[in-house]
Amino acid sequence: MLRVGVLVSGGGTNLQSIIDHVESGKITGVSLEVVLSNNAGAYALERARKHGIPAVCVSPKDYPDREAFNDALLETLEAYHLDLIVLAGFLVVIPKKMVERYPNQIINIHPSLIPSFCGTGYYGLKVHEAALARGVKVSGATVHYVDAGTDTGPIILQKAVEVKDGDTPEILQRRIMEEAEWQILPQAIQLIADERKKASEAENR
Ligand code: GRF
Repeated sequence: MLRVGVLVSGGGTNLQSIIDHVESGKITGVSLEVVLSNNAGAYALERARKHGIPAVCVSPKDYPDREAFNDALLETLEAYHLDLIVLAGFLVVIPKKMVERYPNQIINIHPSLIPSFCGTGYYGLKVHEAALARGVKVSGATVHYVDAGTDTGPIILQKAVEVKDGDTPEILQRRIMEEAEWQILPQAIQLIADERKKASEAENR
């Protein structure tokens, strides 16, 4: 089993999609060990609880400085012995220490076709506002590994979504979630679970 932790800050529709894929057996070999948020009020935590997944909050407000928060975040995650960390709308800059501790073991979903509309400052509706302002006819979503940069790690999966006349940032955001994000994030987790299984079978041969 691939032991997965999901990090969230908000509503958690991507988390919900992962949970649904695991529960329905659409993805296999994956166990959801913990959902962690920096925000105690995140509805995503409620979603986790409803499905019997440990839901924990590590809030910067409870620590004297960023370093103490970063250490607590890492320490909390360590306790779950995770193979993969999934950032599903986690609005916290991932500390360097954490990237080093989990090389190629952290993935992120970004709501555009990287390298467009990504990097510092491109999050939430801002991504879709920028896409509409530029007048692109196609946008989409990207799942990528997390490295030391912002949205710069190796790309795992991408899916294109049509931009339609009259789209608002909210309408485009929703279409990209429904047609791309909620599909490619569980798919990427499945790919990683499969690769890991193959690697461990090869080792045991
Ligand atoms: C998604 O658009 C995701 O691409 C971005 O943050 C948003 C999270 O939405 N990284 P939700 O909390 O999964 O509903």
